Amino acid sequence: MARVVLITGGMSGIGLATAEVFQRAGNRVFVVDQQETPEGKRLVRMGMGCFFAADVRDSEAARGIVDEIMTTAGRLDVLINNAGISRDHVLWKISDADWEDVLDTNLKGAFNYLRATAVHLRRQKSGKVVNVSSINALRGKAGLANYAAAKAGLVALTRVAARELGPANVNVNAVAPGMVKTPLTERLSADVLEQAVCESALGRLGEPGEVADVIFFLCSEQARHMTGQVIVVDGGQTA
Ligand SMILES: NC(=O)c1ccc[n+]([C@@H]2O[C@H](COP(=O)([O-])OP(=O)(O)OC[C@H]3O[C@@H](n4cnc5c(N)ncnc54)[C@H](O)[C@@H]3O)[C@@H](O)[C@H]2O)c1
Repeated sequence: MARVVLITGGMSGIGLATAEVFQRAGNRVFVVDQQETPEGKRLVRMGMGCFFAADVRDSEAARGIVDEIMTTAGRLDVLINNAGISRDHVLWKISDADWEDVLDTNLKGAFNYLRATAVHLRRQKSGKVVNVSSINALRGKAGLANYAAAKAGLVALTRVAARELGPANVNVNAVAPGMVKTPLTERLSADVLEQAVCESALGRLGEPGEVADVIFFLCSEQARHMTGQVIVVDGGQTA
């Protein structure tokens, strides 16, 4: 049966690759993003879904979008909280805006969509949620105080949501990718990218599709007994 899937930040990078994996498997894909890309629009069209131009920080928009999907599609089976940004500085150089933007996008954005969908998932008594965290939620990498705090918050949110939604047969997990080749990381310095390659047991950066495949697995029947977990997808960067 085709599932109804909502992906935040699905116009680029890991979100786009995830939209592609779900669309290829015959699912109906809806995307929320603050930018529109030709590739993302094409996928949404092929996936018989819809693109919502919105900022995940906007909680009213989250409620409206989820309600609209419930009206048009009649259900919501999968939520992928993927939209994210980084503003990397040592902590004494992080401005209030850098802190708030990163926390609001990566953490509150996920909360907005989780809260808006929870009522429907509980009523349906089924559903899958995957939050896109980071290996930097699990280690202390210099320069990432705001990003790491947001992604660690997302891990805590994942565990609590797994407890609260488990009785309604809803699985909530997180993935923690290492360095992946996307527009988010292509503006990093050559040194930073080289360091990630050196850390990696596989000696290379990840591809967006390699994270998307794990997200897809976590939403599959094969992963039905997994919930509240953080799955590291990092080519051995933290091994
Ligand atoms: N690329 C990596 O190495 C890496 C590693 C670990 C975790 N992650 C996480 O994976 C997720 C996807 O990152 P990516 O590398 O694919 O980045 P990306 O920049 O390619 O894609 C992120 C998407 O999110 C959207 N977005 C950002 N802020 C938004 C907002 N406020 N409202 C709506 N949409 C918004 C962007 O427009 C973009 O389309 C992020 O949460 C990121 O933190 C990435």
